[in-house]
Amino acid sequence: MGRDFSTSVLGSISIQLSHLISYTPSSSIHQRHNKLKMALHDLILALKNVPVWSVLLIIAPLIWYLLVHGERKRKEKAIRLPPSPPRLPLIGHLHLMIKEPHRTLQRLAQRMGPVIFLQLGGVPAVVVSSPEAAKEVLKTLDVHCCNRPSSPGAEMLTYNYRDIAFSPYSERWRERRKLFISELVGSKRVQSFSHALEEQVEQLIQSLSCLPPSTTEPINLNEKIFTLIDGFIGTVAFGRMSGAKLLKYNMFQQVFSEAMVVLSAFSAQDFFPASPISRWVDRFLGLEARYRAIFSELDAYFETVLSQHLSPGRVQVQSDRDNLVDVLIGLWKGQGKGQAVTKDDLKAIIMDAFIGATSTSSVTLLWAMSEVIKNPRVMSKVQSEIRSSVNGKLRVEVSDTPQFKYLRMVIKETLRLHPPAPFLIPRETTQHVQVLGYDLPPKTRVFVNVWAIGRDPACWKNPEEFYPERFEDADIDFQGTDFELLPFGAGRRICPAIPMGLMNVGFTLASLLHSFDWRLPEGMAPEDVSMEGTGRQIVSRSTPLYLIPSPYISGQTKLY
Ligand code: HEM
Repeated sequence: MGRDFSTSVLGSISIQLSHLISYTPSSSIHQRHNKLKMALHDLILALKNVPVWSVLLIIAPLIWYLLVHGERKRKEKAIRLPPSPPRLPLIGHLHLMIKEPHRTLQRLAQRMGPVIFLQLGGVPAVVVSSPEAAKEVLKTLDVHCCNRPSSPGAEMLTYNYRDIAFSPYSERWRERRKLFISELVGSKRVQSFSHALEEQVEQLIQSLSCLPPSTTEPINLNEKIFTLIDGFIGTVAFGRMSGAKLLKYNMFQQVFSEAMVVLSAFSAQDFFPASPISRWVDRFLGLEARYRAIFSELDAYFETVLSQHLSPGRVQVQSDRDNLVDVLIGLWKGQGKGQAVTKDDLKAIIMDAFIGATSTSSVTLLWAMSEVIKNPRVMSKVQSEIRSSVNGKLRVEVSDTPQFKYLRMVIKETLRLHPPAPFLIPRETTQHVQVLGYDLPPKTRVFVNVWAIGRDPACWKNPEEFYPERFEDADIDFQGTDFELLPFGAGRRICPAIPMGLMNVGFTLASLLHSFDWRLPEGMAPEDVSMEGTGRQIVSRSTPLYLIPSPYISGQTKLY
């Protein structure tokens, strides 16, 4: 009955509206006037029979939109906003953020300039796409642009922003970040984790070496690399515990890719934070329930891991001593350097370490292998460097990697073309700022399109070409001081784990290239390797990479 009623109300209103719409300029003035009067009269009569609540329900969102839109228009006139492409009603430019937004916004920047204003639903945003604009945001104005926008998904998964990556800019964030660097990912700690990485790489080499030498069966490198990074993170974070087996998932990666869905901030509440309706929309679409389910699963997981670590009967082997959970438990239990760490802080920090380490490292490794297989010249040059440097040794060791100069250029070139986080992690202005002369109001979301900057022809010769030698004479590094190469970001929010990220990628890549020769599946040419990416926050290969490894034989010595 309710449905019949609302159908008839909507029907009646739409008939009146269609009368209004049929008010065409081709009729005579008198006719048009009469038609308009009649339509309005009919509309009022129709509305008289309709309960007030249903009219309000229909027109409230419209009024809300007109008010917000009107207010925004008024404010926009008073300041000089960056240029902005045409927007759609209500959603503004949200449609530009759906498929490969880094590419869409690169094209827009080529047309409209390096600073573009976007209206993402109810949220003002700016995209910067040149080194100069990035320098302003990440260096000159860093202190006013280094907040993180709030997001219901991140809030839930980070135990109310007790982590580092999604935490607002504050004294608490600063302390936790210091602790993260000194206790978990600083160079000293990374060295002590290197044995765990060597162990995992050895397992991978052994598993690939079991394949018959004349095999023509390609392996799925995505699976192999995910398993490797998974094992490394599992050991480093939890020690020798059967961590992932505690969950319904087979791998940590699966758990954390679920978490990435929550953290990629694409809900109605993310883009219409001021509207009371957005919460209902998220509920209606089942997003809130999904977030809650992922959170409870992760939380239960962390609880089990913690209780196993705290169990009095736990036997700890020597090489287990340095795992992240034990270090954090030490701080939590007051054995640290004075910072108070709560149990929730601890869980949120583990979450950051996992998400930061797993997705970025494996994605980068796969892009690097894709590029070298597409470029046989680079493959053979980097293999000769590694093989001649280790001088007949059976295996590469983590300590060998600093001498591989060309390998470092290959990694830089990979990160230039394929930064895993093409927009970094979104930031937010805390006050009114000016970027290249344009005004950005407080609470403007800031996206730095480092993907577009890495391919900007104004900075890079033949930007689409994979050519590691471009770094031979150029003194450009990715530590956040050269704004044309920003895969780790820059400023206060720069990735705090660059040494660990580079160790994961550099050592694993060196080992794979040292111990095996690689070729494409039968009948496939280098140009057939797809380089299409997928993902909003982290962009990975959209299809798995299939390759055939053959163990490398040095002289007569097979390297396994
Ligand atoms: C190839 C490897 C990696 C890449 C390319 C990478 C990239 C990034 C980027 C682009 C950011 C955002 C910077 C910004 O907003 O300006 C970031 C932040 C962060 N990364 Fe990494 N990362 C890598 C490895 C890691 C690893 C191994 C960990 C942890 C073990 C980690 C933990 C973090 C954390 C905690 C933050 C947040 C920093 C903050 O907001 O203060 N990352 N990373």
